[in-house]
Amino acid sequence: MDKYPDEQNVLSDPRWEVAEAARRIRQALTRMGLSYTTKDGHLVEVSYSRVGVVGREYGLLEVDLQRLPRKVTVNKLTHRDTLHHLTAVVGKPVKKLNTTGLTYCVVLHPTPKRQLPKRVGLDMDTRPPGEYMIPVGQGHKGAVWRSLLETSHILIGGESRSGKSTWLNSMLAALLNAYSAEQLQLVVVDPKGVEFTAYGGIPHLAVPIAEEPKQAGEVTDWLMGEMNRRRRLFASCFAKHLTAYNARVREPLPLIVAVIDEVTDIALQCGLRSRFYTNLIRLASKAGSFGIVLVLATQNPKAEVLNTLIKGNLSTRIAFRVATSGHSRTILGTKGAEGLPREIRGRMLARLDAGLVELQGFLVTDAEILALVRRLGGGPAGLRLEPIERDLVAYAVEHLDGGFKIGQLARAFADDERTSAWRIRKLAERWEQEGLLTKPAHAAAPRKVTPRLLSLLEG
Ligand SMILES: Nc1ncnc2c1ncn2[C@@H]1O[C@H](COP(=O)(O)OP(=O)(O)OP(=O)(O)O)[C@@H](O)[C@H]1O
Ligand SMILES: [Mg+2]
Repeated sequence: MDKYPDEQNVLSDPRWEVAEAARRIRQALTRMGLSYTTKDGHLVEVSYSRVGVVGREYGLLEVDLQRLPRKVTVNKLTHRDTLHHLTAVVGKPVKKLNTTGLTYCVVLHPTPKRQLPKRVGLDMDTRPPGEYMIPVGQGHKGAVWRSLLETSHILIGGESRSGKSTWLNSMLAALLNAYSAEQLQLVVVDPKGVEFTAYGGIPHLAVPIAEEPKQAGEVTDWLMGEMNRRRRLFASCFAKHLTAYNARVREPLPLIVAVIDEVTDIALQCGLRSRFYTNLIRLASKAGSFGIVLVLATQNPKAEVLNTLIKGNLSTRIAFRVATSGHSRTILGTKGAEGLPREIRGRMLARLDAGLVELQGFLVTDAEILALVRRLGGGPAGLRLEPIERDLVAYAVEHLDGGFKIGQLARAFADDERTSAWRIRKLAERWEQEGLLTKPAHAAAPRKVTPRLLSLLEG
């Protein structure tokens, strides 16, 4: 150890040259935005251009990498080594370099990098003040939260089972904990049909959870309609964003969060000229100003689908582990996410403000979600009817003698923009499962409103 003076010693070394080189190296690292990674307490990689290399003895070398093989292993360095000595100590022969400029070797003590936790639960008490705050992940300095009013739309990528849905759940849990259905509306597209079923029936859902590509198209139609409605409302009071609008009116509008899982697959299934995709591009570029935030997730980051969208406004990007550096580039604009450890689920690189940060996503369990949903009055335990649902039931009772075929209700509500035929069918299926409607005797037979559903209408 004595042989290798610590940083303090290097810096106080009377030989100014060495101290100066150390300073310049660190400056260069900072300027290039490079953090050095350590393994077992030793510097192992400082990447890319001018600064390089590292050895078992925590030597840091500043060299012209254009002239060196890309990876050089320095076995043993002391602060006395200059490039001249280097030729002798690197594994591969190194061409003698121009000795002017960046050619010093110095010994620095690496700052041991603090490890992120491999698993961390979501603690709502870490929520900082601010509106519509969502948890992004645990960083070195604590929990990182951002306001959805500032993140703009969010893109999340990562290979299968890397932690995307868990992240979305932690976001939804934090929002649902803090905001009522009057303040927050959710739109969920879940092609797998399993990730978000727990939320079915909570009062925050603006439309039933969509599972089929066709329904996904209708959901984006609904969002477009809502965006256009808001555009007129905002224009009437010269508001440029939701906060301004809500400050000026008596009936504030909720923030709408549209979670679309497996977005590339839906886009490819529907086609790049489909309503779904064209709506999505319009929403990505315009909806943010009207209090509609898109949160798009994909395990298949295809550039052909995402690039046009990204050019819009998906300014917050989160990459869990991905298969290739190309995927990482599509999501983050840079490589890196392919190198995240596979065994640590929920580990991500996030582009939040300017740079990338490595974070550990919060683990929210199914049980926590279910408990939350129960509290919100969703799920079978404590249903509440939304206004449109009340209207549908009331119509069935008053005009159809308590029993209805989906087609009948669909025709009666054809002009009502709050619903559509498939939404009515979904609703009827859900109510049927929850025992609120009788099962139809055959496909074309009417479903009957049960006394329980009637009591919800009256309650
Ligand atoms: N932040 C996390 N901390 C700890 N474990 C996690 C975390 N995120 C995910 N996991 C674990 O990984 C599993 C898969 O996560 P998740 O379902 O979120 O992946 P996914 O990316 O949505 O996968 P898919 O693309 O297949 O839908 C979870 O069941 C959980 O056990
Ligand atoms: Mg998932």
